[in-house]
Amino acid sequence: MENKILSEEQITGDEFETTIRPLSLKEYVGQEKLKNNLEVFIKASKMRQEPLDHVLLYGPPGLGKTTLAHIIANELGSNLKTASGPAIEKSGDLAAILSTLEPNDVLFIDEIHRMPRYIEEILYSAMEDFELDIVIGSEGNSRSIKIQLPPFTLVGATTRAGDITGPLRDRFGIVSKLNYYTYEELNQIIKRTSRVLNFEIDEDASLELAKRSRKTPRIANRLFKRVRDFALVENKDVIDKEITIKALKMLNVDASGLDSTDIEYLLALIKNFNGGPVGVETIATSIGEEVTTIEDVVEPFLLQEGFVKRTPRGRIACQKAYEHLKIEQNKEVV
Ligand SMILES: Nc1ncnc2c1ncn2[C@@H]1O[C@H](COP(=O)(O)OP(=O)(O)O)[C@@H](O)[C@H]1O
Ligand SMILES: [Mg+2]
Repeated sequence: MENKILSEEQITGDEFETTIRPLSLKEYVGQEKLKNNLEVFIKASKMRQEPLDHVLLYGPPGLGKTTLAHIIANELGSNLKTASGPAIEKSGDLAAILSTLEPNDVLFIDEIHRMPRYIEEILYSAMEDFELDIVIGSEGNSRSIKIQLPPFTLVGATTRAGDITGPLRDRFGIVSKLNYYTYEELNQIIKRTSRVLNFEIDEDASLELAKRSRKTPRIANRLFKRVRDFALVENKDVIDKEITIKALKMLNVDASGLDSTDIEYLLALIKNFNGGPVGVETIATSIGEEVTTIEDVVEPFLLQEGFVKRTPRGRIACQKAYEHLKIEQNKEVV
């Protein structure tokens, strides 16, 4: 199955993303409210010479959470240490990470919702009192020790705010959702990428790409890179709208920016389950995708754009989905 443009980076990591990542708040496009708040909080923390409050960022993949974690460290003039929730398996793993921290460092924990619960509990005192309480030794001969930590800022990122426990969430002073981007913001991001990668794109083409990027910077950048390849092969030194449309067709990205997984999802919902309501597990099985991929990557955009709706009895296809796929409705839909 032609897979999501999104999943690639998650599996492989990617140098390309690092080169085009903005390094300062000023270069970071959109998310204005969050940016303004962070600017104030960062300034204040520097004036007080205290670490910035812990920050929790949540929202669908590709909207700029990791980028923002790097920017926060840059703006504070601090080091960034990174860790990933599922990779922290033992209390020793967490202790090892925390013991490398220097005063006012930023610790970024990606996918923080996937941290084991008992690790999360150790993190509480580290976040609150900059103290690490761990038990060492084995059964019958164990004792608990306290280690002082330097003051630091934890930046947590998650695609699933709902999976964060109350006690963890409460320990973040700044909690912010990242929103999907407007076409104009994506247009700016694409033009910036074009400058950084030194390959020109004209205004029409950039807007077209912006409209087809699922309102997500990562996808906009990925599509830019691929469209650039098409332009290169056709000996064009500027990406224009014609080559953009041609390339996107080859890449199975439709006029609304839906990709093949989105389309499969909508088709399954409408054709196999008569438009729902149907459970997400059932749809996932019928198109051979992971439930988490459907819930974290596919659905947020389809819900936001009004193609589908979530109801207590399951997912239902909206009129917009029928219209988009040019399928006649055989029942009342919303
Ligand atoms: N606000 C933004 N301005 C400019 N580029 C952005 C912005 N947000 C994300 N990007 C680009 O999109 C890519 C993916 O962002 P990333 O921070 O990895 O997303 P997330 O961690 O939320 O999945 C980055 O490499 C960056 O180039
Ligand atoms: Mg990330």
